[in-house]
Amino acid sequence: MQSTGLALQQDVPLAPLTTLGVGGCAQFLVRAEQVREVEAAVRFAESRQLPLLVLGGGSNLVVADRGWPGLVLQVALEGICHYHGQGSEVFEVGAGMNWDCFVAESVSLDCGGIECLSGIPGSVGGTPVQNVGAYGQEISQTVASVLAFDRRDNCVKPLKAAECGFAYRQSIFNSSQMGRYIILRVTYELFPAARPDLRYVDLERYFAGGERRPTLLDVRMAIREIRAAKGMLITAGDPDSRSAGSFFKNPILAEAQYVELERRAAESNLQVPNYPALARQKKVSAAWLVENSGFTKGYRRGRASISTKHALAIVNRGGATAAEILALRDEIQLRVNEIWGIRLEPEPVFVGF
Ligand code: EPU
Repeated sequence: MQSTGLALQQDVPLAPLTTLGVGGCAQFLVRAEQVREVEAAVRFAESRQLPLLVLGGGSNLVVADRGWPGLVLQVALEGICHYHGQGSEVFEVGAGMNWDCFVAESVSLDCGGIECLSGIPGSVGGTPVQNVGAYGQEISQTVASVLAFDRRDNCVKPLKAAECGFAYRQSIFNSSQMGRYIILRVTYELFPAARPDLRYVDLERYFAGGERRPTLLDVRMAIREIRAAKGMLITAGDPDSRSAGSFFKNPILAEAQYVELERRAAESNLQVPNYPALARQKKVSAAWLVENSGFTKGYRRGRASISTKHALAIVNRGGATAAEILALRDEIQLRVNEIWGIRLEPEPVFVGF
């Protein structure tokens, strides 16, 4: 279909465009490599009153079996522009750029601030949406601004970090202003000749007893290894990596809820794990709650299972439907709620349901 000036494809299976690999087809799909193609795609969707879904790396998505009855816009704007800022190194990166390639590039230039976010699947444009975080770093610490197409005001707009409303796995893009902005480019301010961030217990342990101070590259390689051991690195031949990463958020509890959790744990002779990285944000480990609600790693329901390497990931064991993934999600939520009185909130984005 070329009459719109867009290279529109019809009835495109979405499962292969996601890391979890479930769900049906997109009615229309367009891949935009230029800002003007993004604008044309928005116009096309609006003229036909089609719902618009913006797709990045597909690493945090659960697509419904019925697919997406509208237009899927794959943002494929590439490119990195790097320059020296005042006391920082500035990188303007296209939203479609592979995230881990950008991390590799920044580490090779000896710029710190995102090395702990190595090995996270997906694209640059997805990182501000859910304020991606791991091993003590969060994207909100290094994002300076976001360039986005504003569908409400029909123009391209720069947004400063402070306007993005960053919180744990949250921003305006997935909460108050959901659906309004299409992220085109993200500007990061990194730290030249930085000392790597080793606050997280897994990393401290990895480097304990080492003779020299680890470099940014050492940390990057360590993180990739730690993630791979947890099935959280997309690895050909590792069936546990066919997932959407963490399927649940670590719940943030109020004081009274936490006291109640400890009371219930004591009744079962259990101790709630308490790590500085979790405690700092008053978070409780969702993986621990799952494993202490009668589920084991590898627990299977149809063609969906809990990862054999990490209790927080739900894995497509091959040919699973979205309905099977959701049935396992519901079972886990129900059991955790029954036993601990805590409702786990899913982390991925559900589309087409
Ligand atoms: N744990 C278990 N069982 C498991 C795994 C972990 O009981 O199978 C408990 C342990 O007590 C462990 C603690 O959970 O020490 C924390 O586990 P982990 O370090 O693996 O981190 P997480 O809290 O489960 C979060 C992020 C991950 C991120 C890691 C590392 C969320 C929802 N998840 O997981 O992010 O990579 O920390 O920083 O915040 C993602 O968002 O998709 C993601 C993978």
